[in-house]
Formats: sequence, structure tokens, C-alpha cells
Amino acid sequence: MPLLQADLIDEVVGQLQSGKEAEVYVVRTGDVYRCAKVYKEANQRTFKHRTQYTEGRQVRSSRKARAMDSNSRYGRQERESEWQNTEVDALFLLGGAGVQVPQAHTFYEGVLLLEIVTDADGDPAPRLNDVDLTPDQAREYHKFLMRQAVLMLCAGIIHGDLSEFNVLVGHKGLVIIDFPQAVQATANNAFGIFERDLKQLAAFFGQYAPEILATEYPKEIWKLYQNGKLKPDSPLTGRFQQSGKKADVNAVLSEIDDARDEAMERRGFRK
Ligand SMILES: Nc1ncnc2c1ncn2[C@@H]1O[C@H](COP(=O)(O)OP(=O)(O)OP(=O)(O)O)[C@@H](O)[C@H]1O
Ligand SMILES: [Mg+2]
Repeated sequence: MPLLQADLIDEVVGQLQSGKEAEVYVVRTGDVYRCAKVYKEANQRTFKHRTQYTEGRQVRSSRKARAMDSNSRYGRQERESEWQNTEVDALFLLGGAGVQVPQAHTFYEGVLLLEIVTDADGDPAPRLNDVDLTPDQAREYHKFLMRQAVLMLCAGIIHGDLSEFNVLVGHKGLVIIDFPQAVQATANNAFGIFERDLKQLAAFFGQYAPEILATEYPKEIWKLYQNGKLKPDSPLTGRFQQSGKKADVNAVLSEIDDARDEAMERRGFRK
């Protein structure tokens, strides 16, 4: 692993997950444990580097890496220019905006070093998808994540793959992960992406508290955002009524059915 070669970590302790786009390892530096997310594409690139680069180049890279790990201006510039990466940018920006994300430490040669989110025993936290919820927990988590979505939107970012698979249940609460596909709130079809994210969460929590399926947070939040009225603490109701139109009860009910079917299918149930 490039982090080992560059002396940024002491040991790769084990592998946490191997997903479609990245592999996640637990690594140790002194007595501090962190996650190393290795992007698949970067893996290949690093392999090329290893065979092509001379010793001298590696020393230079290593010094650069140390600069990046520190909070020096050089470090920030390196992060921003040479290894610009959506996930790193999003993590730094959102962390600063009060969104619950793991703290990012270093991005070097396509490997992202970040804080491990842990459970009460100090082990890597489970994903939302791995835990069972009471209806009240589901309501509370859903409400919390709607607020997180507001904070992200206030910072100009939409997650783009928000679901029970990318939210960890840490001992201090929920933490949102996995940002490589994050989009700017000004992007084409930003609302469509935002709505899909929030509907995915509603479908998940709706299994435990079905009334969540009928909420309309995406439209409600987006309208505030578009009108320049969205604030981190804007009150939300979960309801949205287009002016002059009566609520179409049948359409809402059939949407609830669809969302429930979808959620069941994602949990491995067949209709
Ligand atoms: N900071 C972290 N703390 C604890 N566990 C983490 C952390 N980051 C990632 N993980 C674990 O690694 C898994 C994969 O991470 P992530 O979702 O960022 O990558 P991915 O490319 O989307 O992989 P996948 O395709 O498996 O979702 C997560 O589901 C989670 O279990
Ligand atoms: Mg993921």
C-alpha cells in the first residue's frame, strides 16, 4: 500500500470491506487506528508507479505526503490541485459545515485515510442496513438524516448515493460515508438526485414506521433552497402542498405502495 511505502502508516491491520469501487482497510499509525479507503482505479495506477518510479521520486512523494498530512498551506494546495478528488473535497467541506461525516486525514496516491467510525465496543460501526430498529428509532434517525440533508444542501452538496448502506451507526450517532459521487447542488438534475437520495431513506425507514413513506421532505426542502430561504435550522414539516392543487390521495397511496415494495425488494424479499 502506498501509505506504507511513504511511511504514513505503520501497519495494515486488516481488511474491512471490499466494495465495487473501493477496498477499505484498518490501518495503524503508532497507537492510532484509521480507515484507508483504496479506490480500485487508484490501485492500478499505484501499481504502475511502483514499476516505473525511481527511488528519488518516491522520497519526494513521501515528503509531499507528509506535507499533505499536516495542515500546512502547501498541504492544502497539494490536496486541492494534484490529487483533487470529489470525496476528499466533500468530506472536508461537509465536516466544516457540521455534517456528521468521518474526519478525513490524508489523501495520498489514491488512498484516503480517515477516522474509523466505531460502535460502543470500539469496533467498526455497522451500517444502518445491518441493524434492527424500533419504530421510534426509525423516526428519530429519519428526522436526523433529513436535517443532515439540509446541512449538506446549505453547503451546496448533494450526496448522490444516500441509503442505508452508506450510513454508519456509530456510538455517538449516525455518520454519513461514501462521497465519490457527490454533486454540486447547482448541477443539472440536482433536484432529481436529491429526491432520489431522500426517497431511498424514506423507503428504508418506512419499513419500521410506514407513515414516513408519505412524507414529502425532498420537495419541501428544495422549495426553500430554490427560494434562498433554506437555513441549517429551517423548520420542516414533511408536507408539501402545491398552491392551488388539491392533494391527490390516490397518487400518494400508490406511491406508498411502490416505495414499500421497493424497500422490501432491497431487503431481499420478493413480492
Ligand atoms: N470511516 C469508516 N469507519 C468505519 N467503517 C467504514 C468507514 N468507511 C467505510 N467503512 C466501511 O467500508 C464499507 C465501504 O465503504 P464505502 O461505502 O465508503 O465504499 P464503497 O466503494 O461504496 O464500497 P461499497 O461498494 O461496499 O459500498 C462501508 O460500508 C463500511 O462498512
Ligand atoms: Mg458504500
